[in-house]
Amino acid sequence: MNPAMQADDTRLTRLITRQAQKRHLAALWAAAAGIAPGMIVLDIGAGSGALSFEYAALVAPGGRIIAIDPDAECIAHINEQATNRALPLHAITGTAEALPPLPAPPDRVMLTDALHHMNDPTTALRRLHAIMPPHAILFIAEYDPAGAGAMGAKLSRRTAPATVAALLAAAGFTIQAQAAAPDEHYTITAIP
Ligand SMILES: C[S@@+](CC[C@H](N)C(=O)[O-])C[C@H]1O[C@@H](n2cnc3c(N)ncnc32)[C@H](O)[C@@H]1O
Repeated sequence: MNPAMQADDTRLTRLITRQAQKRHLAALWAAAAGIAPGMIVLDIGAGSGALSFEYAALVAPGGRIIAIDPDAECIAHINEQATNRALPLHAITGTAEALPPLPAPPDRVMLTDALHHMNDPTTALRRLHAIMPPHAILFIAEYDPAGAGAMGAKLSRRTAPATVAALLAAAGFTIQAQAAAPDEHYTITAIP
């Protein structure tokens, strides 16, 4: 294997390993968002897909996960796993700010530990608002800047709940609930 290919492989392996450590959160996020069989779930900023794979098991039969991330290597990995494991999951390379066309409108939009990574969260939330049908729910999980900083995103990179609430209001969302959550997170559910 040439050194460039080996470096890419190591990077993906590192991402997969790191994200697998957060897999336990998928059941909590799914329950809080009300993910159920038959639903179309848009997982924005899906990374290497550890949580998307868990959601895929929960929407069967009849539902589907659409995973989106700008990292083409992660997207290839997710689609390979989805095929190998026969999961109802399709991954697309893209960003929330410039959403690619979706195969179906979502019932739930999962935005977990991704908002603080985005270059333009204002545009991202506006785009999501534009594609969500009235019955859909947006679920956000973020690391809390009031946390200890013992795990997850560096304290300096975290976004305060009040900032996310202001971004949501500016994008046209109404907040339904906000809660403290495990591993230094807070969660927000909002409707368009
Ligand atoms: C820490 S990972 C979160 C993975 C997963 N959602 C979770 O809860 O563990 C953040 C992901 O956001 C993605 N990301 C960064 N900018 C983005 C954007 N503008 N739109 C969508 N995803 C983005 C990154 O590529 C990365 O895979």
